[in-house]
Order: sequence, then structure tokens, then C-alpha cells
Amino acid sequence: MQTPVEGFSRFTKEEKIDWVAKNYTDNSEETKRLLTTYWNADVKLQQLHDEFIENTLSNYYLPFAVAPNFLINDRLYAVPMVIEESSVVAAASKAAKFWLDRGGFKASVLGTEKVGQVHFIYNGDPKKLQLFFEATKPHFFDEASAITKSMEKRGGGINDIQLRDLSDKLTGYYQLHCTFETLDAMGANFINSCLEQFGKTLQKHVSNFSLFSDEEKNIEVVMSILSNYVPNCVVRAEVSCLITEEATEKSVSRKFSEKLMQAVNIAKVEPFRAVTHNKGIMNGIDAVILATGNDFRAVEAGIHAYASKDGSYSSLTYAKVEGDIFKFWIDVPLALGTVGGLTSLHPMVKIALEILQKPKAGELMQIVAVAGLAQNFAALRSLVTTGIQKGHMKMHLMNILNQLGADKGEKTTLIKHFKDKTVSNASVKEALEQIRN
Ligand code: MEV
Repeated sequence: MQTPVEGFSRFTKEEKIDWVAKNYTDNSEETKRLLTTYWNADVKLQQLHDEFIENTLSNYYLPFAVAPNFLINDRLYAVPMVIEESSVVAAASKAAKFWLDRGGFKASVLGTEKVGQVHFIYNGDPKKLQLFFEATKPHFFDEASAITKSMEKRGGGINDIQLRDLSDKLTGYYQLHCTFETLDAMGANFINSCLEQFGKTLQKHVSNFSLFSDEEKNIEVVMSILSNYVPNCVVRAEVSCLITEEATEKSVSRKFSEKLMQAVNIAKVEPFRAVTHNKGIMNGIDAVILATGNDFRAVEAGIHAYASKDGSYSSLTYAKVEGDIFKFWIDVPLALGTVGGLTSLHPMVKIALEILQKPKAGELMQIVAVAGLAQNFAALRSLVTTGIQKGHMKMHLMNILNQLGADKGEKTTLIKHFKDKTVSNASVKEALEQIRN
């Protein structure tokens, strides 16, 4: 029977492990052994990881890989990916190689605007609020200058502040809808600090605005927070190549291009398919986002909102056949940073950014979008030709062998054995039993 715990965050790490192991696991000695086995021998490095969050017990490993041969805007990249799904890196590498032979990827940033909002309640005459907003607008900028000074020096800052009336949706609901340029930073702290200052400025100046009645002066700021929906912070990545009747090293076949286009069009109109289609895109995007220390939850939330922007959840990628040219592209919102946050703290993130030749945020946006497009291409290519399971189960074979406790020799034998056979849990189990007998 578990009981609540007091002051858990103040326990030492060992005490925390002890408490969790005793109260929540069957074999507390084994739990303790496992959690401490995953500690890093380098005490300083471990401390760094311990201090990223509260109540750290241990580390949780995910593989860190690279997918080489990504030609993006005529520059060759090896793209770092952090992901557990067995087929993702292999698929990315295959797609990279496929398009390397066909001119590579082109990518461009379409916009870098970040968004934040001050949500407030005002029960009064909307025209007076508009007049108040216009009179106060310069103060929002002035009174945030201590926060914006250094960002402005680098060329960023607050782009605009608008008053939006949403009282038809929720009684008395208005907002300051604010846009920002945060350059190479993701900018969450900068934006939230600005917004909280805007909230203070709003309330400070309300009392001096003579047109407001006492009741109208009673503006209530509900919250000030950035939005992870960034439809104007968008990057486009694309590939194109010649269509020939039969595929060559430089072209795709007409049949393949049409089938791929159909697969994309299905995801355009059918949300059940679009979710899985976009999930495959996120396999590539999240893996690079994680490797480069960016906030994958923010990116996920923003991307899925963007995929619904036309009123129904839809594909993030597009495909077109124009005469003899096949075109395949993605438009995706990505608010990323290459400075601040984890980027200068996590040693593996530093390495990932170094492998990418220390990109600016815009270049990282391009690389991430390409990773998403490549992943989608790889998935659709399998889906419309061999089916997905052939490649998936081949890559999954190693997981099954590990689950069954196969040793090195058994693995080598069975990998060879399954080169031309269908992989399934049952077939691998049977083959392993056979060689053991
Ligand atoms: C699996 O992780 C991703 C796919 O399902 C994506 C897709 O269906 O397009 C293969």
C-alpha cells in the first residue's frame, strides 16, 4: 500500500531511488542496481543531467545516429537523429541517397515570425478599449526595452502588437496578439518576459485613461504566454526530378510518380490517413529536433495545428506531376533555436550542432524540414511499392533477436537466414529454436 511522500524533491538522489524502488517496484535491489548502472561515471556530467529537471533518478538512453548523404541547397550534411524506432535512420539514409543522385533537396525559409499573446477580460465599450490601446501602444515597446535591448541590437525584437476582440467567442475576451523576431533563439523566455511586461503595462496605464468608467478600468489579465502555433514561421523543402517511362538513376518512373502523388492526395483528403502520413514525417522531424536539443513538444503541437489550418487535418506534404517533372515538397512551421536552451548545455546537442556545421536557426529549419520530407518519401515509396512491413520487419529483426536473448553467433546466422524470408516474431522464434537444437 503506497502512502504520499513529503518533501520528496529534497531527498538525495539515493534516497529518492530507495523510496521509489521500495514503494513501487517488486525487486527493489534490482531497481536500484539498474538505475545506478545508468549513471554516468563522469560525476560532473551526471550532475549536469541531474540538474536539467527535478527528481532525477538516472538517465534514459536513446540511440544517437546520423543519416549521411543529405544534399541540401548544394551542401552535404550528415544529419544527427535521436530515435528508438528501428527503421527511421535507415529510411532517412536511403531517401537521402535516392535524392543525392537526383540533384538533392532545396529548402528555403518562408518566414520566421514568432507569436505570443496577453489574454485579458474587459467588460466595456470596445471603441474605448481601441482608443486606449492606440494611446498605450508606444508604452508597450518602451516599458519592455530592458528585455528587448540586446535582441534589438542583434536585429530582432518585437515586430508588432495588435489588439484583438474575441468577445463574440467568450464574454469580455480580448487579447494583445504580439509577433516577434527572435533570430537564432527559439525565444520562449524572451517572448514570455516581454508578454508579462505587456500585461503589467496594460494594467498600469488603464487607471490613467480618462475615457474609461471605473468598471471599464477593471481589466483582468488572465495570462501571458507565447503560442506554439507559428503559421508564419515556416520552411519549405522540396525535391524534383525527371519522369521517364522506366526509372533510371536520375529519374523516377511515371507509374511510381503517379502512385506517390495519389498517396499524398489520399492524405490530403482523409484525416485517418493524414495522421499516419504526418506521423511518418514527424519520425524524421522529431529525431533531428531531439538531437539538436529543441523542444519537440512545441514543434509537434505547432505542426499538427498547421496541418489542420484549412479546417480539416491534412497532409503536410504535396506532390505534383508537371509534364515530365515530378515535384514533392513540404511546408512546415518550425520555431527552432541554435543558441540558448539546451543547445550550449547538453554535450550531445553540442556535438549534433557541430556535425551540422553549427547552423543558424534558419539553416536548422531547412535541415529539419528536409528530414521530414525524406522520411515521408521513404515511407510512401515503400507503401506504394513493396509495402511497409518488408523493410520494417527487417530492421525490427534485431529487436526480436535481443528480446529472445540471441547471442552474437545466433544473430549473425539469423540475419543471414532472414535476408530472403519474411520476418515475424513467430518465424524468428522458430528459426532460433531450430539452430539451438
Ligand atoms: C511508421 O512509423 C510510419 C509510417 O506509418 C508512415 C506512413 O504510413 O506514411 C510508415
